Amino acid sequence: MYYPEELVEEVRAKNDIVDVVSGYVRLQKKGGNYWACCPFHGEKTPSFSVSGSKQMYHCFGCGVSGNVYTFVMKYENYSFPEAVKQLADRAGVKLPEMEYTEEQKARAGRRARLLEVNKEAAKFFYYQLRSPHGTIGLRYLQKRELTDETMRRFGLGYAGKSGEELVKYLRSRGFEDDLIKEAGLANFSERHGLMSQFWNRVMYPIQDVNNRVIGFGGRVMGDGEPKYLNSPETPVFDKRRNLYGLNFARTARSGNIIICEGYMDVISMHQAGFTQAVASLGTAFTPEQANLLRRYTDTVLLAYDSDGAGVKAALRGIGILRDAGLTARVINMKPHKDPDEFMKALGKEAFQERIDQAENSFFFEIRMLEEQHDMSDPESKTKFHREIARKLCEFTEDVERDNYLQAVAEKYFIGIENLRKLVVSYAAQTGLAKPAERPRTGVQQKNSPEESARRAQRLLLTWITDEPPAYEKIKKYISAEDFTEELYQKVAERLFADMDAGRFNPAGIISTFEDEEEQHEAAELFNTNLPELGTKQDREKAFHDILFSVKKNSYEYFSARLGSDVNALNQVIAGKKALEELAKTHISLD
Ligand code: UTP
Ligand code: MN
Repeated sequence: MYYPEELVEEVRAKNDIVDVVSGYVRLQKKGGNYWACCPFHGEKTPSFSVSGSKQMYHCFGCGVSGNVYTFVMKYENYSFPEAVKQLADRAGVKLPEMEYTEEQKARAGRRARLLEVNKEAAKFFYYQLRSPHGTIGLRYLQKRELTDETMRRFGLGYAGKSGEELVKYLRSRGFEDDLIKEAGLANFSERHGLMSQFWNRVMYPIQDVNNRVIGFGGRVMGDGEPKYLNSPETPVFDKRRNLYGLNFARTARSGNIIICEGYMDVISMHQAGFTQAVASLGTAFTPEQANLLRRYTDTVLLAYDSDGAGVKAALRGIGILRDAGLTARVINMKPHKDPDEFMKALGKEAFQERIDQAENSFFFEIRMLEEQHDMSDPESKTKFHREIARKLCEFTEDVERDNYLQAVAEKYFIGIENLRKLVVSYAAQTGLAKPAERPRTGVQQKNSPEESARRAQRLLLTWITDEPPAYEKIKKYISAEDFTEELYQKVAERLFADMDAGRFNPAGIISTFEDEEEQHEAAELFNTNLPELGTKQDREKAFHDILFSVKKNSYEYFSARLGSDVNALNQVIAGKKALEELAKTHISLD
């Protein structure tokens, strides 16, 4: 935990969710709750509700839910500590300086110094570009059709022809030589001493999501090698975990994020209004970057160069995004090379059309495979069909696989039944019929026994938070251990302990989790859509069924672990008794 739990809770309690949310969207009171059009997905009729008593929000349209922290995190794209800070400020709560060990202090101090020297260097480059020495750089950027405003927004600069001035300047500002070197801004040689790493290049400061300058890319003007020179990795510059432009893209609210190859592409797209564009940092796209993007979107559009290398990069990227549970689509840039050239030649309306027409990543992969095969040669064509079958096996969900199978068969004029046979035989041969598990955030398998059990557990927790008196009636049958999913169990433990102590605070439980994914998952537990039931009888039956099913699942779960889990025997014995009792007990809900 970044801050002590009690403090996090104090800040939360001092920020009434209805107050906070109404600062962002217009809420209307209806019944016991407040309603608005959901700020997190497009809609015309309000299905976003905020409950003052639960101190939570829930959207019946897109399913998001959470407490005041997750709302601010999602709306502002803040991390959890950032949200705590903002809400603490809002409520006038003073947050403590956190305690560090000496070593942590030294490391944090070093990082802070590196960020400072980068910031100072960025300023230096920025003013150089606007000074007489920088005319050549300014001309270059103007020729590339960047407006002054764009240059300012991205903090573009120029590194002059002398290798000494930057170093002199930084020294005059009190930065030591070894810090300047560690930041990758200068190199030491016996002959010249400390000399700037960048010279006669236009400079692109690279910022992290919090707008801090973590490194630089410098582009040579005209031809020359290397075209781009980038800062080396440093303690503040991790190329695998940052993306150029994400500091702006994170609040673009466009429903997607576009990844492209180059800094210039990002800048052109932003200038044209596509502020959701980002690029990796002179290296290939990484799983860490995919994870980072997952905080901001579920759909990523790839706008890679239209040459062979770009296609290869796109195919790699699709795999990485898929593994992260993100939907990928591919933007076709032809006949132009990259987004920058496309924008200049055809303009933003044409680009928007390409976004709208972005190709489903599966069909893109198949189309690329097609290009490697000769359709006039039966043998090659058969191979192509086998490749399709192989790719179809990557879908773990039957319905999804079958939908793709039908679509691809139609598109490439393959008999559906023949293709289906190919898939079955391929799956049988390679044992792919039961493919690897999908990541947790990916499409969940519906209706599997595990999912049904989890659903019952969610329903029960939601029901109890909606109707706290129900807890008293069932507490002798149920305990936190009955929630077999780890996170559910933690939530239940807290909820039950609170209620046993006469407290009711589901919104507070959410922020006991540090990880954003976990916070959302915890919030979901209190906001599962309960069945709409008319009569009291129906409701009591439904409640009984849910309780029984949670208990039964727990009994089976522990029965299966009798040999391996010391706790299991107790659970099984108690579970059996509770089930027998429950079977003949009526639980009334009033
Ligand atoms: P490109 O050559 O496609 O860049 O390289 P670009 O943005 O289109 O360049 P312009 O339009 O000619 O200015 C894509 C990215 O690959 C990295 C940079 O991050 C660049 O933005 N790169 C490229 C390097 O790191 N070093 C190089 O020498 C070239
Ligand atoms: Mn380019």
